[in-house]
Amino acid sequence: MTAKVIDGKAFAANVRAQVQAHVARLAKDNGIQPGLAVVLVGEDPASKVYVKNKHASTIEVGMASFEHRLPAETSEADLLDLVRSLNADPKVHGILVQLPLPAHLNSELIINTIDPAKDVDGFHISNVGLLGTGQKSMVPCTPLGCLMMLRDHHGKLAGLNAVVVGRSNIVGKPMAQLLLGDSCTVTIAHSRTKDLAAVCRGADILVAAVGRPEMLTGDYVKPGATVIDVGINRIERDGKAKLVGDVHYESAAAVAGAITPVPGGVGPMTIACLLANTLTACCRANGLAEPEGLTA
Ligand code: GUN
Repeated sequence: MTAKVIDGKAFAANVRAQVQAHVARLAKDNGIQPGLAVVLVGEDPASKVYVKNKHASTIEVGMASFEHRLPAETSEADLLDLVRSLNADPKVHGILVQLPLPAHLNSELIINTIDPAKDVDGFHISNVGLLGTGQKSMVPCTPLGCLMMLRDHHGKLAGLNAVVVGRSNIVGKPMAQLLLGDSCTVTIAHSRTKDLAAVCRGADILVAAVGRPEMLTGDYVKPGATVIDVGINRIERDGKAKLVGDVHYESAAAVAGAITPVPGGVGPMTIACLLANTLTACCRANGLAEPEGLTA
């Protein structure tokens, strides 16, 4: 079998177009413009690229983008003051503090100071608890993007066996909660799982989020399964820099029914879902109906 390639780039473009259409309707019918504030502390080169891309995408769909770039030596008190002022600003519907923060700043404290209703990353402890108890919350962007692609590919997910490899707070755990919410039978596996390949071979849906380049080969894949590769690993091969996932693409694609490539799979969905979450937060803040198909 050669797997169907799930085109995350095209899927993300479609999500952004849906968000853009909703944003245009909000302006016309309600005179409201969703706004996203992104806070970057310091000079981390990867973070700078992410923040630049987030700003460009936000503007492109017609939302307001508020960028706050602070020096690396910013004090915790000053950063908390900024977060509180964004919480109070009615033009701001979504707040994202880019991680990682410099070591002297307490990330948990900063994230938990964001108004949960504006926490478009879904990292605030209240949103984690709401998701875990099946209540309406803000959902982390990457798992939300994976869920959208899985729903699109399978229709209903109920009853499917899902194995999530990786137990991070940002991807693995919320991904498992979302799949459980869609009535999958969910296993969270990780680097210490015994006979990981056998566990993975039980999966109709296999989500790889371990952060180890090309770890899951075709031996880990049940014939016909859907493989979602969240990994983004920079490696060097034949003297060239290369981006690979947590899945060994060639061998897995020979067995799977469908697979997301790296790059061009899950990656583009993260920013698209950040915009979807900002739109959702704006609709909720204004007592308007949430956009269909763009939430969990
Ligand atoms: N750094 C890398 N990815 C992310 C993300 O999704 N959200 C935040 N806040 N920081 C990040």
